[in-house]
Amino acid sequence: MSYPASIRESLTKVEASRNSRLGVAYPRMTPEERQTILNEYHPDYITEAFRQLRIGPNKGDRTPMELADALEASPIVNPMDLNLDEYHSSCDVLIIGGGGAGTSAALLAHANGADVLITTKLRLGDANTMMAQGGIQAADKENDSPATHYLDVIGGGSFTNDPALVEALVMDAPVVISWLESLGVMFDKEPDGTMRTIHGGGTSRKRMHAARDYTGAEIMRVLRDEVRSNIGDTPPTIRVWEFRPVVELLLDEEGRIAGAVLKDLDIGKLMVVKTKSVVIATGGSGRLHYQKFPTTNHYGATGDGLVLAYRIGAKLAFIDTMQYHPTGCAYPEQILGQLVTEKVRGLGAQVCNVDGEQFVYPLETRDVESAAFIRECSSKGKGVITPTGQPCVWLDSPMIDLIHGPGTIAKELPAMVRQYKRFDIDMIREPILVYPTLHYQNGGIFIHPDGGTDVPGLYVAGEAAGGIHGRNRLMGNSLLDICVFGRRAGIAAATYSSDVRPGKPTLDHLDPWIQARKQAGISEGAPSPVILPDYTVREETIPASS
Ligand code: FUM
Repeated sequence: MSYPASIRESLTKVEASRNSRLGVAYPRMTPEERQTILNEYHPDYITEAFRQLRIGPNKGDRTPMELADALEASPIVNPMDLNLDEYHSSCDVLIIGGGGAGTSAALLAHANGADVLITTKLRLGDANTMMAQGGIQAADKENDSPATHYLDVIGGGSFTNDPALVEALVMDAPVVISWLESLGVMFDKEPDGTMRTIHGGGTSRKRMHAARDYTGAEIMRVLRDEVRSNIGDTPPTIRVWEFRPVVELLLDEEGRIAGAVLKDLDIGKLMVVKTKSVVIATGGSGRLHYQKFPTTNHYGATGDGLVLAYRIGAKLAFIDTMQYHPTGCAYPEQILGQLVTEKVRGLGAQVCNVDGEQFVYPLETRDVESAAFIRECSSKGKGVITPTGQPCVWLDSPMIDLIHGPGTIAKELPAMVRQYKRFDIDMIREPILVYPTLHYQNGGIFIHPDGGTDVPGLYVAGEAAGGIHGRNRLMGNSLLDICVFGRRAGIAAATYSSDVRPGKPTLDHLDPWIQARKQAGISEGAPSPVILPDYTVREETIPASS
């Protein structure tokens, strides 16, 4: 495929300016410039893309239209159609989601004596964890400390993070790295066997542990294997159900978690499971494609956990802020929106416009960097336009080998090199085209440091949780939080389940929900959780001439 002629002229300009750019960093923005560019160009600041919630615990709060629709929707389950006395299975801890957070929670709940059932919408390990590239942060070197890590996380979140959650995150981080290594994760090492750590955007110390540019896949490989090794016949067991998303949670008469309704996607039937506690580990919501952005997210990332928790009264936090990763693939079309790790800029690749000029410091925080790309392509009119009409900018990857020596890109970014080679683009020699892509849900279900919520028996871990990162997450703290809060939620859920005896499961929360919808005049819309994104091309959206 390589680049078409229409793009080559601009590419030549990038190549021509390369030597003069080497070693010349574009100046960082002042705090005032950052705020101005965010206000004017960041998608979170586009007022008409948001609305206030009309019902539920966050009534009056602002959130993207697509998430508001899902949160306020009618349930999939009709209580009249379901006999809750006929349950299909029971467990101590029901874990919803089979990614890094769900598997971490399962392993720790099991180790603490609980009978665990993981139920997942797709297959075990099909999750955003698998797609994470850059790394996982932990302050485990002599020149670093959890206190320094804490300051970086809080600064990155513009001082909006919940301090107790950040404390838990940074204090557990070194333990998590040792745990993962003990299970078999192969982190990059120095020749002397010590951990190799690098910088990420916003880190004041080199504390990013990685496995090349497929860190998430390596962690998921090991956690999934570990779960499979613990599947057995003798209680306490871990069981895994695939293609069975939860569509509603069940509470007892005292408002405690008592069960869940699942949908078997193979046969389309609903199933009831009784449980003493639930860990929501359903991940993010990139597949809701806020403002029609493409996404780095996994196919199953449709915000289901938020919907389930919201309907039973759990409070959400920071649901008005999403993270747009500046470097999503913009060309070729087949990989539109897929992640180009921040590591590429961390290794020295600069960002250039259609004329081969730098226009932004490459490692501004993700929100500011994304806003700068959007401005360059819109009001400044300096973006490259691909044959399908996608505006974008250049990421000058060949600079990496010029800075660090030949072979660096191949060694540090093997997965990315391979991905582009499939389309006949050699990122070692040619720059690549990028544009912001929907990457992360900064907020989620508000949790306490043990992963618990205000609903007795409900725990949350991973991207579905809110409060840890405040209004902006730094690179490498997501792979970390899935393990930290997955482990904490697993332990807390097992402990809680050891002495709670929930009453009969009910769907009683649905009646007031339906009444609230009626009172707010909400009648429209598809039911939720969304479960799978809908990419059907509808007749009304096909141009008449085609
Ligand atoms: O750019 C990246 O590799 C992304 C990492 C992250 O979001 O943590």
